[in-house]
Amino acid sequence: MTTIVSIGSGKGGVGKSMLSANLAVLLAGKGYKVTLIDLDAGGANSHIMFGVFKPEYTLADFMLRRVDSLQDVTMELKSFNRLRLIPGMGESMYTANIPAAAREKLVRHIHKLDSDFVVIDVGAGTNLNTLDYFMLGDYNLCISTPEPTSVLDLYRFVKLAVIRKALSVFLANDDIRKTIAKTNVQNIEQIFSLAGEAGQEKREAAQQAVKNFRPLLVANRSGDKKKKIHILQLQQLLKKYVGVQSITKLGEIPVDTAVEQSIGAFQPVAGYAPKSPAAKALVEITDNLLSLIEQHKNADTEISESTAAPAVAADSLV
Ligand SMILES: Nc1ncnc2c1ncn2[C@@H]1O[C@H](COP(=O)(O)OP(=O)(O)O)[C@@H](O)[C@H]1O
Ligand SMILES: [Mg+2]
Repeated sequence: MTTIVSIGSGKGGVGKSMLSANLAVLLAGKGYKVTLIDLDAGGANSHIMFGVFKPEYTLADFMLRRVDSLQDVTMELKSFNRLRLIPGMGESMYTANIPAAAREKLVRHIHKLDSDFVVIDVGAGTNLNTLDYFMLGDYNLCISTPEPTSVLDLYRFVKLAVIRKALSVFLANDDIRKTIAKTNVQNIEQIFSLAGEAGQEKREAAQQAVKNFRPLLVANRSGDKKKKIHILQLQQLLKKYVGVQSITKLGEIPVDTAVEQSIGAFQPVAGYAPKSPAAKALVEITDNLLSLIEQHKNADTEISESTAAPAVAADSLV
């Protein structure tokens, strides 16, 4: 079975592509088959990070039906065994308005990819495509820098992702869904009461969908201008207004010139400068993610109706 890891953020330029590329490299280095998909229509550049300037195929070839299967647009990356890349497509009228049927087909094909892990760089912002791609993940990683604008945009991004998740219990043509889409939601309770108008079971389904959503946080560029993200504050806000039960910090990447150098050398920093502080932090993040996945697997098999929270949560919140 493929495990999908999505990587999103509220703001651009905060390190999504850097994190996606390195996570993909490090997972492949552990022996997993990995596909990295660049779904960032606003800034598709994952291929550049690997020194590929003119990919033979991109996601556009699949979306515009020039090939039959998503697997056909995956490319090998020299020097990284087991890692394949699906280069993204640029910004266009098409990518801004992908028809729902094409999006659904893409999702079906992502699940069918021949990989242990699919890492999705979903891009920044809160348009519906982005939110839906983000929510595709079995594990949803959000990344932010300590800048207040980045943290605030991350809060907004998670809030809208949660609303989208709550809406998923309604069909697209449902009246309630249309009403909610037009409402300027301040508090998740508003969504639950609107959902409740369609019946108690809809309210409960929406609540359950939100309860099950546990995003993971990667704090990037920590130490930049001596700043850190106030995780506890972010958690409290998300819990109070958005109903997100926990946001587990997966790790923290220091600001590091090796990252900039590696981008200039067209190689992910994990391969380019494995001893650099950023590369070490990325290894730790990958390990934390793998142990979280392992814990979930064990919890699923040992306690069938488990409500157990991942153990990494409590001690890594400072
Ligand atoms: N930890 C870091 N230390 C130093 N520079 C970083 C770090 N993380 C990201 N950067 C720089 O920020 C830029 C934007 O990163 P990128 O991954 O492209 O962001 P996004 O995909 O979110 O737009 C990169 O060019 C890189 O040089
Ligand atoms: Mg990017």
